[in-house]
Amino acid sequence: MLRLNDPLLLKSQLFINGEWVDGDSEKTIAVLNPATGIEICKVASATKKETGYSIDCAQNALQTWGKTTAKHRAELLKHWYRLIVENIDDLALILNAEQGKPLAEAKGEILYGASYIEWFAEEAKRIYGDIIPSTQSTQRLLTIKQPIGVVAAVTPWNFPNAMITRKVAPALAAGCTIIVKPAEATPLSALALAELAQRAGIPKGVLSIVVGEDSKEIGKALTDSPQVRKLSFTGSTKVGKILIKQCADTVKKVSMELGGNAPFIIFEDADIDQAVKGAIASKFRNAGQTCVCANRFLVQSSIYQAFTDKFVAATKKLIVGNGADDKVTIGPLINGNAVQNVHAMVKEAEQNGAKIVLGGTPSNLGPNFYPPTILTDVTSDMHLFKEEIFGPVAPIIPFDTEEQALELANATEAGLASYLYTQNYSRIWRFSENLENGIVGINEGIISTEVAPFGGIKQSGNGREGSKYGIEDYIEIKYLCMGGI
Ligand code: SIN
Repeated sequence: MLRLNDPLLLKSQLFINGEWVDGDSEKTIAVLNPATGIEICKVASATKKETGYSIDCAQNALQTWGKTTAKHRAELLKHWYRLIVENIDDLALILNAEQGKPLAEAKGEILYGASYIEWFAEEAKRIYGDIIPSTQSTQRLLTIKQPIGVVAAVTPWNFPNAMITRKVAPALAAGCTIIVKPAEATPLSALALAELAQRAGIPKGVLSIVVGEDSKEIGKALTDSPQVRKLSFTGSTKVGKILIKQCADTVKKVSMELGGNAPFIIFEDADIDQAVKGAIASKFRNAGQTCVCANRFLVQSSIYQAFTDKFVAATKKLIVGNGADDKVTIGPLINGNAVQNVHAMVKEAEQNGAKIVLGGTPSNLGPNFYPPTILTDVTSDMHLFKEEIFGPVAPIIPFDTEEQALELANATEAGLASYLYTQNYSRIWRFSENLENGIVGINEGIISTEVAPFGGIKQSGNGREGSKYGIEDYIEIKYLCMGGI
């Protein structure tokens, strides 16, 4: 039982057109605590029927919301931001219960998520058009920027709060209306956000939350609808590709934040202690279930052993357990399948010659726990190198030269984040420019912030979230050509 200061933040219904409703099918989804396996509550499950209705309501709301002033939208967003910060303790409890991340980390996510609302409330007022010097003296040319229309957002379970605000805030700031389909494993944070949005005065139909056990059915209803003009998705590359194809028929704009396979490269001139600190922060954030998590540690041979020893020693200090306990620094994985996938990759690497220097056996804390694990002698043909691990497992691979490091770093179709540790400024520029990633952390393991553009290249997706660029994905440019002057 969750002990919330405000029990009304725990919702179990769909939020459509400003109303809390059950699905017609009367089906429900049991939301489980991944640390204990205990059911937190049951949530109504929508079908394509409720999804279609939420699209109609969003289209209807767009007619007024899209015409409000930026100042008005900014004020409502700021009010929503303040309510979220005021309710941080309850929101963190809900997030911890449904997702598993430790309470301190859950609070960090609430503030991180809220920061996007504050940022885009400010950006709403800076959606400028242009006056373009004309080639004809009788003409005046200008552009105006307008909301793209109804947006659909499909969001993941690893950041049940921040991945929603990062999409909803720019959409609302731009004057769009939005329907969010949160991951069925973690709908409670989304619903709590909707409750606070309603209290902040966001009008009915502007934000709807459609939870459903049949993601494919809901996804199809959103992508097939000609009324939905844009889809924003955070999740796996596999699902992203399906959604992009589904959006093709109605030529929707798409923003895709897909899988990563971040290299974490440490050169012999790096500050090793700084690299270890960054490695711990990047690898074990959210138990390794983050798209920008370090996935492959590439370490120059001359410092390979020194780095490994210090990294193992620092990792041993992490405390795995139920994140509701204040001492815990690593919570469970989201479910048993996640544990099995991670363990299968570790076993495959071991069978092919990698050495497990820490962890590597499923934890006795419960079926969803996996211990922090470090492997050396990993090679580029192993699954751990080629695939996104999405768990607390760190493979370490040696390299000798800068050329080798670059080749290993770029040997993936994923191009989201990368990390580079060196004190050589000329190498920092050279290497950063040659890395095939949307984000490069330089002597820094945590790179996410609302003020900088988050997004990947290659098969890690397209579009950018956050920063001054993030709002552009929710805007259409209209060119006005005025003649007869
Ligand atoms: C993600 O893993 O999808 C997002 C991580 C972040 O925003 O830092």
